Amino acid sequence: MDRTTVISSAEVQAQLAHCRAVAQLAAQWPEETRLAFVDTYGCQQNEADSERIRGYLKQMGFGFTDDEERARIIVINTCAIREHAEQRVFGNVGALVHVKRRHPEQLICLCGCMVQQPHAAKKLRESYRHVDLVFGPHALWKFPEMVHALLTQRGRTFSVEDEAGSIAEGIPVVRQDSIRAWVSIMYGCNNFCAYCIVPYVRGRERSRRPEDILAEVRQLVEEGYKDITLLGQNVNSYGKDLEKPMDFSALLEQVNAIPGDFLIRFMTSHPKDATQKLFETMARCEKVAPVLHLPFQAGNDRVLKVMNRRHTRAEYLEKIKALKALIPDIVLTSDIIVGFPGETAEEFEDTLKVLEEVRFDALFTFIYSPRHGTPAASMDDPMSREEKLANFNRLTALQDAISEEKHAAYTGKTLRCLIDGLSDDARYGLTARTPGNRLVRVAGDPSALGQFREVKITGSNKWSLFGELA
Ligand code: SAH
Ligand code: SF4
Ligand code: F3S
Repeated sequence: MDRTTVISSAEVQAQLAHCRAVAQLAAQWPEETRLAFVDTYGCQQNEADSERIRGYLKQMGFGFTDDEERARIIVINTCAIREHAEQRVFGNVGALVHVKRRHPEQLICLCGCMVQQPHAAKKLRESYRHVDLVFGPHALWKFPEMVHALLTQRGRTFSVEDEAGSIAEGIPVVRQDSIRAWVSIMYGCNNFCAYCIVPYVRGRERSRRPEDILAEVRQLVEEGYKDITLLGQNVNSYGKDLEKPMDFSALLEQVNAIPGDFLIRFMTSHPKDATQKLFETMARCEKVAPVLHLPFQAGNDRVLKVMNRRHTRAEYLEKIKALKALIPDIVLTSDIIVGFPGETAEEFEDTLKVLEEVRFDALFTFIYSPRHGTPAASMDDPMSREEKLANFNRLTALQDAISEEKHAAYTGKTLRCLIDGLSDDARYGLTARTPGNRLVRVAGDPSALGQFREVKITGSNKWSLFGELA
C-alpha cells in the first residue's frame, strides 16, 4: 500500500467532464431510459458514498428509480462486515442475470467494501459475467470515467487495487433526506481489531481538512438541515494526519460555532481514544446532542485483548462514569460481538455484567462472523453455533428489558424533539427524535416536519416512545 493521495481539483473536474460526455450520449436515448438505481448495503459511510454516486449520476443526466427493470444503470454499493451482508449481495446480483437478459443494454455496477476483497472480486470476475463494472471505495472518485469508457467501448472494468486510500473534495452529492445529513470527516481505519475487515477494504485513516468540513456543514445549515452526523470509523482520532494536526474536540467546537439551529452527532467513537476532553467538549457545546455511541464489543479483558481493542473493561466503565458525571441525561449505545473465537461461557457473562452496570439505551448486537484475511478468522473457535445463539438471545432479552425500563422513564416528560419523518400510522402521523436520538411516534400533522417542537411523552415500549405536540 502506498501513502494517502489527495485527488486534485483538476482531477475531479476531469471527472465532471466525463459526466458531461455521458450526458451527451444519454441525451440521444429515449428519456424514460435515463434512469439509475442505486442500492446501498452497510453503514452510514456507504450511505454517504452512495449520495456521491447519485451526485455523479445526476450530472450524467440520470434520474432515479427503485425498479431494476427500468434502470439503465444499476449500482449496488456493498458491505463486507459480516457473511450475511455478502450473501445478500451475491443473491441479489445473481438474480439480476434475468433482468439483464431482458435489457441487454443495462450496465450493472458493483462497488463498496465487499468488492475490495480479492476473493470477492475474483468470484465476480469468474462467475458473475453480467456485471460490467466493479470498483472499490478507493476508486469511487473516478466512477464517471469508468462509466464513460464502458458506454463507448464494450467490455468489463475492475478497479479494486489495494491502496492506502485517497481524499477527493468537490464530488457532487444528491442527498436522500432534507432534514438529516451525513458528513464524512475522515475515511479508513488504522485499528485492525482482530475480527474486522474495514481496515483492509477502506484503507488507512485520513482526515478531511477542517475548512472543507466546516464549509459543507455551513452549506447544509443554510439549506435547512437540522441534524448533522459527522462520520468516521474512529472519529476520536480525527486530525492526527493533517498538515496542521488538530483533534476531534477542536473540530466539534468549530462545528458548534456555526450559526443556526441544528444538532450535531458523530459516530463512531473508539473507547481507547474517547477522552475527558471530548466529554467536556460535548457537555459545553450546546449543539452537540447528548448521545454517545461507544462500542465495547466484549466485557472480558482477555477477549478484549485478543480482539486487539486496546482498552480494558475497567477503563471503559471509568470513561462512562466520567461522561455520566458531566452529562447526566446522556443517551448511551454500543456494539457487541457475541461468540468471538475462544470466548468462553464465563467470559460471556462479563459482557452481560457491563450491560447491567452501564444500562445502555440501545445496543447493536452481532454474532461473530469470520472474515477472510483477518487474524480472528484463523483462531480456534470451539463454541457451537447453538451456544452462541443462546448467548445472543440472553443478551438481547436483557437489553430489551433495560430499554423498556429506560423508555418508560420518559413518560410525562416534555422534550424538544426534531420532527424528522411521516408515518402512515393513523394515530401517530409523525416520527421525531429526542435530543438523545430516541425514536418518538408523535400524533400531529405533516406541517411540523423539519421543525424542533416540544413533545410530551405519553407512553413507550421497548423500541420507541409515543407522544403528542405540546
Ligand atoms: N468503526 C466502528 C464500527 C465498525 S463496524 C467501531 O470501531 O466501533 C460496526 C460493528 O460491526 C462493530 O462495532 C462490531 O460490533 C461489528 N463487527 C465488525 N466485524 C464483525 C465481525 N467479523 N463479526 C461480527 N460483528 C462484527
Ligand atoms: Fe473495525 Fe476496529 Fe476499525 Fe472499528 S475500529 S472499523 S471495529 S478495525
Ligand atoms: Fe461500512 Fe460495511 Fe464497509 S459496515 S465500512 S459498508 S464493510
